[in-house]
Amino acid sequence: MRTPIIAGNWKMHKTAAEAVLLAREIREAVINIDKVETVLCPPFTALGAVEGAIADSNIGLGAQNLYWEEQGAYTGEVSPLMLAGLCDYVIIGHSERRQYFGETDETVNKKIKAALAHDLKPIVCVGENLAQNEAGETNSFVGSQIKGAFAGLSADDASKIVVAYEPIWAIGTGRTAEPEGANEIIATSIRGTLTELYSDELAQKIRVQYGGSVKPSNVESFMAQPDIDGALVGGASLKSDSFVALVKGAL
Ligand code: 13P
Repeated sequence: MRTPIIAGNWKMHKTAAEAVLLAREIREAVINIDKVETVLCPPFTALGAVEGAIADSNIGLGAQNLYWEEQGAYTGEVSPLMLAGLCDYVIIGHSERRQYFGETDETVNKKIKAALAHDLKPIVCVGENLAQNEAGETNSFVGSQIKGAFAGLSADDASKIVVAYEPIWAIGTGRTAEPEGANEIIATSIRGTLTELYSDELAQKIRVQYGGSVKPSNVESFMAQPDIDGALVGGASLKSDSFVALVKGAL
């Protein structure tokens, strides 16, 4: 019912020239795959070049961030107006942005609204840190992040969002969540909260990815979970062979 979605978050990696090479290799390998949605999220400086490399293909393009104003004196920021027509998706509220760049549930919510107003589909990231995990606060924390992110959104807008559950302690560490445990958190704190806010129907419609040290060797165990609809991938998305293996692992 929900089409799996494998998205590569290239983070601050790849020059425009390197990005084009990687995108071309991925394109060639996934061109006939239509049961899994493939999305590439290069840095801003490579978006235009990657758009060209994946033109007329089944691959989607995403940015890694945006600002909520359309234009103005905001040195260094990129607006939804600039991304509209270029990208399909935009990652919002990644834990690295919350940790290093001061993003909060409120700014995440403003960015989501700005993206949706310009027909960009948000990939909204939530997830607890190690201390919260060990203190048993995961469910309440992730639930509160979902409430903050979706505040003031209509059901129609909410249905366009992809949520990525990324436990911070699993990002780039090689340490993954147990697939069953991640599924339980997604079912309870993400779909459960969306049911509270909207309806069970909407909660079942929204796609939820897992992120955090996803690799070809573990992707199938995550995809086998009923509430996990794909992966948001960092490290393993930077090489075509591993990324393509992830897309195939989601088939
Ligand atoms: P890794 O796959 O490198 O752990 O990164 C996950 C992530 O942060 C994707 O957004």
